[in-house]
Amino acid sequence: MEYREIYGAKIPVIGLGTWDLRGKAGEKAVRSALEIGYRHIDTAEFYDNEEYVGRAIQESGIPREEIFLVTKVWYTHLRHGEVRRACEASLNKLRTDYVDLYLIHWPNQEVPLQETIQAMEELQKEGKIRFIGVSNFEVPLLEEARRLATLPIVTDQVEYHPYLSQKELVDYCKKHQVVLTAYSPLARGRFRHDQVLFRIGAKYGKSPNQVALRWLIQQDMVVAIPKAQSVQHQRENLDIFDFTLTPEEMEEIGRLDRGEKVASRL
Ligand SMILES: NC(=O)c1ccc[n+]([C@@H]2O[C@H](COP(=O)([O-])OP(=O)(O)OC[C@H]3O[C@@H](n4cnc5c(N)ncnc54)[C@H](OP(=O)(O)O)[C@@H]3O)[C@@H](O)[C@H]2O)c1
Repeated sequence: MEYREIYGAKIPVIGLGTWDLRGKAGEKAVRSALEIGYRHIDTAEFYDNEEYVGRAIQESGIPREEIFLVTKVWYTHLRHGEVRRACEASLNKLRTDYVDLYLIHWPNQEVPLQETIQAMEELQKEGKIRFIGVSNFEVPLLEEARRLATLPIVTDQVEYHPYLSQKELVDYCKKHQVVLTAYSPLARGRFRHDQVLFRIGAKYGKSPNQVALRWLIQQDMVVAIPKAQSVQHQRENLDIFDFTLTPEEMEEIGRLDRGEKVASRL
């Protein structure tokens, strides 16, 4: 595994996305991911699965400090008291005293950003959150969050994959030392028949999905959180550290952009 090390955080470049991994089957999927080496798990209060994620982590026997655990506060809970309540509820369900990263899941214009960030920073000072971040923030709002925060905004989690350029945000994140966490990094299965990813993958004995993940994590400041329920997919998504794309291949994949968003918007 490789890591992005920033502000004292050590973030594995591949994490397990857990949207839609619920119930016993979800718990089993998180458990198998931990068994095969995942040490970065992404969940959210909205996913309605924190309880199962928490149980899988506890029952794995892996020391809590070896796992980089991320959860998110939903956009209807961004008032000061609500952030605190939501965080406490997440910690209880996750069976832990702290999360490594706490994110604002989506911005909400009806709540002053300062109020939410202040609540998160209080939780951070109390040790319940190690780092804070945002999700689905475009550059101007990320800039505002950074200006309002007294502690670093460690990540912005957004949809990013070869079919969706995030050039402006990637450049901003590199310049200002913010980790860009790529969600839906496999465009939810749309790369299976991609000729370019297939041809490049054939050269290295890798699948189009593996090439897409490699392309993401080979970019400065980028990490990716593919979701996979099947252990075979989980393994495949970790098996991307034994090859390197050439600069020409990186560029060619960058040209696949077609502005395609696969995740639903609020
Ligand atoms: N912050 C946000 O607003 C936001 C929004 C969307 C997603 N997210 C996060 O990002 C995570 C990932 O995004 P996503 O779930 O939207 O989509 P994704 O990771 O792009 O794609 C997941 C799909 O790809 C399949 N898959 C995984 N690995 C594969 C492989 N090696 N070969 C073939 N198919 C494979 C999975 O199948 P199986 O599950 O059957 O193995 C699943 O159907 C989410 O789970 C969530 O944690 C965050």
